[in-house]
Amino acid sequence: MKTNRTFTMIKPDAVANGHIGAILDHITKAGFKIVALKYTALSAQKAGEFYAVHSERGFYADLVSFMSSGPIVAAILEKDNAIADFRTLIGATDPSKADKGTIRNLFAKSIEANAVHGSDSDENAEIEGSFFFSAFEKF
Ligand code: CMP
Repeated sequence: MKTNRTFTMIKPDAVANGHIGAILDHITKAGFKIVALKYTALSAQKAGEFYAVHSERGFYADLVSFMSSGPIVAAILEKDNAIADFRTLIGATDPSKADKGTIRNLFAKSIEANAVHGSDSDENAEIEGSFFFSAFEKF
């Protein structure tokens, strides 16, 4: 079902480098409404659960370690065509391949420390958003 919602995290690298405000500014100026927002941190166990789909990949252990290395910002965003438009706004997973002006092009350093996460489908946006937020925290 199309929900016009996506889920994002501002990852530990972008938080540590002081980019929370600039990234949220890019997101809202691109027309996304913030439906839920939280400054928090993932334990290694929670990061492992969140990225369980990648558990067979060679980068999984490093990804879990990185994603639990410091605070993150979690958010649910709403806009027509949210999934595709947000993936366009953030750019390719590997920032060296991300288009100029995209969030990863501007703020990311590597494929692992790539500044932001964006859901890849409506179904995963719902699962990922509900991983962080209860119904009482979504507006
Ligand atoms: P994200 O969109 O959060 O989803 C999975 C993450 O795994 C991805 O962003 C990257 O940060 C991370 N990752 C680390 N190494 C790789 C890799 N070689 N290929 C794809 N993703 C990787």
